[in-house]
Amino acid sequence: MISVDKAPLDKRIAALPNVECRGESAFALEPNAVGQVDWLFSDVVCYPKRLLALVEKWLAAGNVRNFVCTIKFQGSTDFETSRRFAAIPGSRLVHLYHNKHELTWFRIQ
Ligand SMILES: C[S@@+](CC[C@H](N)C(=O)[O-])C[C@H]1O[C@@H](n2cnc3c(N)ncnc32)[C@H](O)[C@@H]1O
Repeated sequence: MISVDKAPLDKRIAALPNVECRGESAFALEPNAVGQVDWLFSDVVCYPKRLLALVEKWLAAGNVRNFVCTIKFQGSTDFETSRRFAAIPGSRLVHLYHNKHELTWFRIQ
């Protein structure tokens, strides 16, 4: 498992076997440098358009099997970007019970 976050991971999690922590920006990570990814989870706080660009980059690379991403709205709801997420083939966009001013987008294969 690769954890990508500028903030440190809880020491107990970081110490688990097969956990690699990268203290860099998720937006700077290049798919080709990572290889095959079974699950890509994102809970990064960022504008929806920025998350969409990140997802599109990984979709284009074609090396991620499953995605689960939280789309967080800051202020008004970004309906246009939400529609673009919802239009990604094979994916779903939902408001889960614990989602606040955010939606969960996932593509599970
Ligand atoms: C909502 S919190 C995630 C909370 C996490 N799901 C949990 O349950 O502990 C957002 C996280 O995104 C991280 N973050 C913000 N900008 C980032 C970036 N550019 N790259 C990677 N992580 C980032 C923050 O450091 C923070 O840990």
